[in-house]
Amino acid sequence: MSMSESVEHEVPDTDTGSDTGTDTGTDTDTGTDTAPDAGFEDLLAVAREIAERAYTPYSHFRVGAAGLTEDGRVARGCNVENAGYGVTLCAECGLISELIAGGGGRLRRFVCVGGGERLTREERGVVMPCGRCRQLLSEHAAPDLVILTPAGPRTMAEVLPQAFGPADLHP
Ligand code: THU
Repeated sequence: MSMSESVEHEVPDTDTGSDTGTDTGTDTDTGTDTAPDAGFEDLLAVAREIAERAYTPYSHFRVGAAGLTEDGRVARGCNVENAGYGVTLCAECGLISELIAGGGGRLRRFVCVGGGERLTREERGVVMPCGRCRQLLSEHAAPDLVILTPAGPRTMAEVLPQAFGPADLHP
């Protein structure tokens, strides 16, 4: 697999319209039986696949992250641990690096999955990005970014209210 394949792999933009973007994840407002991960199936598959490559000799907790850009590219990442524990790279770090190295752009959809090394890829569930990684994602978020969380789809503002951003450097 070439290094550029990941960002050239297009995920069909199915059912990821503005209705999903405003969905609070409760599903009680619509009365429909829409699954909380509707529209995220392809990204979940990418995240589960890349989690298999995580380097986790210390926590044994594999994380895979996948994001969809505004122009339909997919960026991925997995966690890479280190004997200096604090130097560990979260999966989101790899994803943002791949995003920028692949030409940049803003994220419209994001999900990460995690779980023990002994789990199968399908058994790994959606996990919440850590606080530092929410800040990392915020910098590269499209205005309509939706993050699939364990509680359902959420906007960037919902998972990182009052985010510090580029504009705060020049008040
Ligand atoms: N981890 C991530 O990759 N992303 C997160 O958002 C949360 C935590 C990783 C770091 C470490 O390798 C393992 O999960 C256990 O904390």
